[in-house]
Amino acid sequence: MDFQELKENINKELETVKNSRQLRDFANAYLGKKGKIRELFSELKDLPIDEKKTLGEEINNFSENIRMQVKELEENLKKQERQFAENREKINLALPGEKIETGHIHPLTIVRREIENIFELMGFSVVDGPEVEDEWHNFDSLNIPEGHPARDALSLGKTLYLETGEVLRTQTSSSQTRYMKKIKPPIRIIIPGKVYRYENTDASHEINFYQIEGLLVDKNVSVANLKAVLETFLKEFFKKDVEIRLRPSYFPFTEPSFEIDMSCAVCAGKGCPACKRGGWVELLGAGIVHPNVIQNGGLDPKKWKGFAFGMSLDRLTMMKYKIDDIRWFHGGDMKFLKQF
Ligand code: DAH
Repeated sequence: MDFQELKENINKELETVKNSRQLRDFANAYLGKKGKIRELFSELKDLPIDEKKTLGEEINNFSENIRMQVKELEENLKKQERQFAENREKINLALPGEKIETGHIHPLTIVRREIENIFELMGFSVVDGPEVEDEWHNFDSLNIPEGHPARDALSLGKTLYLETGEVLRTQTSSSQTRYMKKIKPPIRIIIPGKVYRYENTDASHEINFYQIEGLLVDKNVSVANLKAVLETFLKEFFKKDVEIRLRPSYFPFTEPSFEIDMSCAVCAGKGCPACKRGGWVELLGAGIVHPNVIQNGGLDPKKWKGFAFGMSLDRLTMMKYKIDDIRWFHGGDMKFLKQF
């Protein structure tokens, strides 16, 4: 390349340099050891001595001049860049911080964990069962024979059947015989989980809700044991001296069977709108496990007895937090959820 052309190129390019990085690239390309100016020097050797001398001097002066311009530009650019970074990073300590949104646990989960803790302290284990259940575990093994209205899809039972013939479990009781077969007695378990029923939803009905099943199997088990365990649980859960009462009832899988009511936690049994002025709130079903069920669980009913209960987690959560409609739980309303 000829010197004049190179000079023009260099001057032009120097004008386009906008930042330190570009400047470094420029200096390497022209002034560095392998730069264009060095290259030009090496071409001088073929010229006659006079020309070599004058041109050499010219190139030297030019290169020195460019070197000075680069140095000056380098300082200016650095100053500019520092200023820019300072402006950008300037922190105003007086401004409020940006709020980091963290989620939190759903009220049903809060209450489920609380219930699990209380039962664990009483020596119960927390276990899990399948939501898609076969008919045998959901019905037959629990002494609910074919044709029983509780199995009906549309009237009493409200069972959701799958095309495979399996069901979405209608009750966590379906896990009772699974665990009798799985663990050697004595058995002390609670089985929390989701259950499904074909319901018209309203303030107290949902198509899916949560139950907590309890099962204790041992040698000498009485209704007094059942009552003591549930009373202890409820006192701990409501942090109040609640009373319970047992009303005779019917479940195919228990004999005798009870409906268990609790003295209203809102008015202490005096009567208020929450308990429809009766002073008692219906809480759960329970009973002494039917010998047929013990047998279906692979155990000898002459040797083993048990009590069982099933309660609605949704109901307990509603009572604890005074929630008036079950549909709040799955409604996805953030104003509701953020209260917990
Ligand atoms: N499975 C019953 C229901 O869904 C509740 C129940 C009642 C469970 C009595 C039990 C029991 O274990 O012994 O309504």
